[in-house]
Amino acid sequence: MFLVIANWKMNGSAALAQQFSTCLRMGNKVETVICPPYHLISSISGNAKRGAQNCYWELGGAHTGEVSAAMLKDIGTEFVILGHSERREDGETSQLVAKKAIAAQKVGLRVVLCIGEKEGEDFEFAINKQIRESIPAQRSNIIIAYEPVWAIGSGRTPTIAQISAAHNFIKRQSGLNVIYGGSVKADNAREIAHADGVSGLLVGGASLDINSFNAIIGAV
Ligand code: PGA
Repeated sequence: MFLVIANWKMNGSAALAQQFSTCLRMGNKVETVICPPYHLISSISGNAKRGAQNCYWELGGAHTGEVSAAMLKDIGTEFVILGHSERREDGETSQLVAKKAIAAQKVGLRVVLCIGEKEGEDFEFAINKQIRESIPAQRSNIIIAYEPVWAIGSGRTPTIAQISAAHNFIKRQSGLNVIYGGSVKADNAREIAHADGVSGLLVGGASLDINSFNAIIGAV
């Protein structure tokens, strides 16, 4: 199944979760996942699966303000995004991402582990380092999201040839399936989704509007 994942980031409301639960279109051979902020996860139902944008690296205990992978699983969450560049920018290290991925694997969540080079960074060097440091040795239930940091929220995307080359490189290096994220919109979703090596899409800004997200699901 081709994955289409909505990353709402720190956006959304109870009303938006309700709208997505009732008005999301069914995709053809598409598995759709909505990742709202924690407090809205339980409100997601209908044609989409539930996802989270983060979790803690231990499964329970005295960690004020944190949410564990076990708690996410308990409310029917199936996916968790880990290591998003916005979190890495705020200080989350690859080592921490790996610990969180192991916690998520323990309870059977599917991990969407984000990697990507910053503008001007050497692609192969940055990607190999993130793969080596962020992905646990035991690789079950992990999907990589390749998100060039410079493409996130910028309206800029790599060329289709660059996307294919990047995805195939990451697949070879990690042995894992790779989805693409970074300025995916209704008008470029089809071309990106059909690029060689692309197993899904991670959508930020364009996932906050039901019409544009439905258009992306319909385009792939
Ligand atoms: P964008 O975000 O689609 O708004 O570029 C993607 C992401 O950060 O996952």
